[in-house]
Amino acid sequence: MEVIIKRDAQEVSLEAAAIFRRQLQEKPDSVLGLATGSTPVALYRRLVAMTQEGDLDLSHATTFNLDEYVGLPGSHPHGYAAFMRQNLFDHVKVARWWIPDGMTNDIPQHCAAYEQAITDAGGIDLQLLGLGSDGHIGFNEPGSSLGSRTRLKTLTMQTVAANAQYFASPAEVPRHVMTMGVGTILEARRCLVLAFGEGKAKAVAAMVEGPVTAMAPASALQMHAVCTLIVDEAAASLLQRKEYYRWIYENKPAWQRA
Ligand code: GLP
Repeated sequence: MEVIIKRDAQEVSLEAAAIFRRQLQEKPDSVLGLATGSTPVALYRRLVAMTQEGDLDLSHATTFNLDEYVGLPGSHPHGYAAFMRQNLFDHVKVARWWIPDGMTNDIPQHCAAYEQAITDAGGIDLQLLGLGSDGHIGFNEPGSSLGSRTRLKTLTMQTVAANAQYFASPAEVPRHVMTMGVGTILEARRCLVLAFGEGKAKAVAAMVEGPVTAMAPASALQMHAVCTLIVDEAAASLLQRKEYYRWIYENKPAWQRA
């Protein structure tokens, strides 16, 4: 796993935006896996600005979001479809975007169809991920099978509490979600994980330097051949090999840089 430590969230987002730009230059019709939550907001803002400046073209790209709350219609202000429209799709044209439908009346069938749509699109080229403070990716909570596919999950109380900030009260946070599985995520050709702040430091350390375990689903990314993690200083604070990661980055050959 490549670990890049940047000074702050802004620098992390700039580095991530450069990776998106390079991906789209190399393959304009890339299939992108997208994430929600607070982590990717600055990156999306940067992608919108780059598009407006003529520096990025997403118009041939297809996107698949990781997850969605069950029971929230696409129009719900706190659903992830609304989040994506507000942060990206209202400002930038993409060829096609997919998000699980929180109102489906056949969840297993809908999840299987979502997997099929990813396969039919040719698989995900670049998967963006945030990190839950409990080590989740997508909504794959601790205990998730590391081979799991898109399916229904029940949120942990920790995640309900963390996401309550977006709702009027914790009671309004849906308990159920649909999420790409860990196995689905591992099939992306490249994974890009972003994390900021002290609150993510434990999850980052478990992901990078802990054992591969379903108790920290992000640790499964140690099995991925092309995974980049970009963190700020606070999120990197519990990494034991910080100085080595910095050394690698400083000595990176020019052709490998985004
Ligand atoms: C949420 C999302 C994840 C996200 C994570 C971290 O529950 N389902 O995709 O990466 O938790 O959220 P945040 O970026 O707000 O810290």
